[in-house]
Amino acid sequence: TQTTQIPGYTYGEVATSPVSEADLDLLKQTVLLSEEDVLYLQMAGRVLKDQTEDILDVWYGFVGSHPYLAQYFGKKDQLNDAYLASVRKRFGQWIMDTCFRSYDQQWLNYQHEIGLRHLVKKNQTDGVDAVPIIHFRYLVTFIVPITATIKPFLARKGNSVGEVENMYNAWFKAITLTVALWCYPYVKEGTF
Ligand code: HEM
Repeated sequence: TQTTQIPGYTYGEVATSPVSEADLDLLKQTVLLSEEDVLYLQMAGRVLKDQTEDILDVWYGFVGSHPYLAQYFGKKDQLNDAYLASVRKRFGQWIMDTCFRSYDQQWLNYQHEIGLRHLVKKNQTDGVDAVPIIHFRYLVTFIVPITATIKPFLARKGNSVGEVENMYNAWFKAITLTVALWCYPYVKEGTF
């Protein structure tokens, strides 16, 4: 398949998340993620499918225009272009995974892995020498740009205003849920 060709993309091949499907169910209830939202996420996936490169241009533009963010992709203010390019491929796949994957134990496992890749496993997947961690405060606050910037792309394929709004709300819920899971390795043991 196409996905297995993305270097470092190891969905289905990672350790088990400490978060269970029962925990996940409560988190879904907390962000108000319903069965209907799941359908709107799939609609979003179909709308975004051929736009991922444009979305990534916007997101990388945002990071690139803020040196305090860009520095995480390198060392001593020197950006690592190969690292940027490698992560970008997995980032594109992640957009599709967020829309189309079922949120089961396998999905939980990969969320845990992505959390680790922003912290203790940063740089390992691509074998790069870069700043060692993404700081927690930016992981959480990134929910806003990752959410806000998606709306114009959702509106670009002729869907009704109501559909766009529902896709957008479903996306926001999914991103908040995802980032909560990525926080696990950042918080003190026993506090998640
Ligand atoms: C890795 C998304 C916050 C920098 C990734 C990946 C995704 C992603 C999908 C690749 C996962 C994989 O390996 O399969 C997000 C989202 C964020 C977020 C949705 C917050 C809502 C941040 C922030 C930065 C950042 C604030 C700082 C600029 C990076 C870097 C990697 C990465 C450097 C590569 C980590 C590694 O070495 O493996 N991110 N990210 N991310 N992200 Fe984030």
